Amino acid sequence: MQFNARIDGKKIRCTLLSDRNLSNPVFCYSVMAPSVSSDGYIRIKNVGGYSEIQLPEIEAGQEFDFTIIYENPDFAPANRAWLPLGSYLRCDGDIVPLPSVKPAGVQTDAIAYRQGKIPELLICPQPTSFTANGETISVRGIKSNSSELSRVNSLFDRAGLGPFLVDNGAVIECIIDKALSHEAYRLSISGDGITLAYSDGQGAFYGGITLATLIVTHKGYLPCGLIEDEPRFEWRGQHFDCARHFYKVDTILRLLDTMALLKMNRFHWHFADDEAFRLELESLPELSRTHFRGEGELVPGVFGGGARSGGSYSKSDAKLIVEHAKSLGIEVMPEIEVPAHALALCKLYPETRDRKENGAEISVQGYKQNAMNPAMPESWRIWEAMVNEVSEIFPFEVLHLGGDELPPDTWSGSPAASDLMRAEALETTQDLQGWTMNRLAKFTASKGKTPAGWEESALGSTSIANDAVIFSWTGQGPGLKAARDGHRVVMMPGQKTYLDMAQTDDQNDWGANWAAIISLEETLNWDPVPEDEPELEDKIIGIEGAFWSEFTTKDQEMEPMLAPRILGIATMGWQNRSKTDSDILLGLRPAYSELFRLMNWAVS
Ligand code: ACM
Repeated sequence: MQFNARIDGKKIRCTLLSDRNLSNPVFCYSVMAPSVSSDGYIRIKNVGGYSEIQLPEIEAGQEFDFTIIYENPDFAPANRAWLPLGSYLRCDGDIVPLPSVKPAGVQTDAIAYRQGKIPELLICPQPTSFTANGETISVRGIKSNSSELSRVNSLFDRAGLGPFLVDNGAVIECIIDKALSHEAYRLSISGDGITLAYSDGQGAFYGGITLATLIVTHKGYLPCGLIEDEPRFEWRGQHFDCARHFYKVDTILRLLDTMALLKMNRFHWHFADDEAFRLELESLPELSRTHFRGEGELVPGVFGGGARSGGSYSKSDAKLIVEHAKSLGIEVMPEIEVPAHALALCKLYPETRDRKENGAEISVQGYKQNAMNPAMPESWRIWEAMVNEVSEIFPFEVLHLGGDELPPDTWSGSPAASDLMRAEALETTQDLQGWTMNRLAKFTASKGKTPAGWEESALGSTSIANDAVIFSWTGQGPGLKAARDGHRVVMMPGQKTYLDMAQTDDQNDWGANWAAIISLEETLNWDPVPEDEPELEDKIIGIEGAFWSEFTTKDQEMEPMLAPRILGIATMGWQNRSKTDSDILLGLRPAYSELFRLMNWAVS
């Protein structure tokens, strides 16, 4: 069976070639958003970007051509990621898998990077200061019995970058200096010896990361001098969408290793979305029905899911991830994602919807009826069970509740929602969502956790209280407003930090473009705290990169989207404003490409 798809202006031209006659074939596929046949074949089913198109009889050995087009006339396929993914034919009940779009994922040689300025130290993020003394010493490894340096050694061994600690290595003197701040370190390298000063274990770990990285990137010849280093922000995060695509636990562990190498310290684990709630909960065992999508499941093969795909994370998987992260100085923040982005949950728990509601709203992903209704007691039973159990599984103090992209007019026509709004003096849908986030945040706080939410949770006449951390994603504006209102804010403007966006506008590239095209340089072309509002520096606690997995069908396809741009995210989280420089970032790229390749990442 052969299948081919290519971009032709706004159209997607598809060709099927079968070695046997196929009767009554239905073409089942997914693209980024709702689509239809543009040659008049009937669409017999549609859920978001997933569609089924009834094709006529296909004869053996005869090429069969047809075209599809995005329903939204403003959408055109920007690159290969916009072609059909997870395609198959259903012929009188038989499933005939079709080959996937070839080649899938970023073509690593398609991106031409400019030559940047090579800095004195091949390390990302660049340290706060480096005073070189002009000499170089040969160091192949370090001799130490420090437990913090042995954490670095384990990371480097696992990542294929070690060994760092060796019996015949250079001796290092470790000094506690309480004048240094949390995570800060001072590293002196000279012909007389190496000295590492820090005030706490994480400072020692980061000093060790710098030393171990320099040994690899400078190929054993260390530039001598004094490195002084401390982070700008306490929150240096990476978000990872494991709902749209189920990633193996090992892939998550490898991502955590990469984050630690770049001194990133918050992992935002997005395991719940419209398509699945992937964390197994004892209090809600029926969530297992959301773990797979495809034929006969609650959700069909949207976002490249095909006839069947998915998986779930057990409590012991979560424990392993949390412990691995902890060994790297990374906290894991889980996200439960309420009340919208809950298509599978709404199907699993119909009592979370008001049956009298007209349900005409449509989410940006093209889903109908994907928000649980806060006027239904069943919604609260489920949300509170999630908060209870997820709080117990994850030791980190912050629990992200979600709260983004409630479709306009959700709950309109729901008599129960209207009654609730009247009783609580709420006027708009946004007010009702704000009230919902406020109530769930209070419940979260009663469990000893700090609630967090996407920027929309801070909207409405009643909204999430300002002890909640707000994640600003449509731009910086909502985050700035939330910070002025007293919230702590993590900045992740889609235009700069969404690493699922394509890196170029080339049709051979891979990725979405709704927020922006994001080159490596662009990840540094902003400032989380505006220079004219320095007072917000206390409220804007950090930044985060995001990776959404709508068009990822294999774990490895994530890697060339993150690398090298995660270097920009790490730099923005760590370096002082005056030090951030995209020319240097470009100069560091070749050295880090080599590191990523040693780590078995698929990168350019
Ligand atoms: C988001 O990108 N909807 C947070």
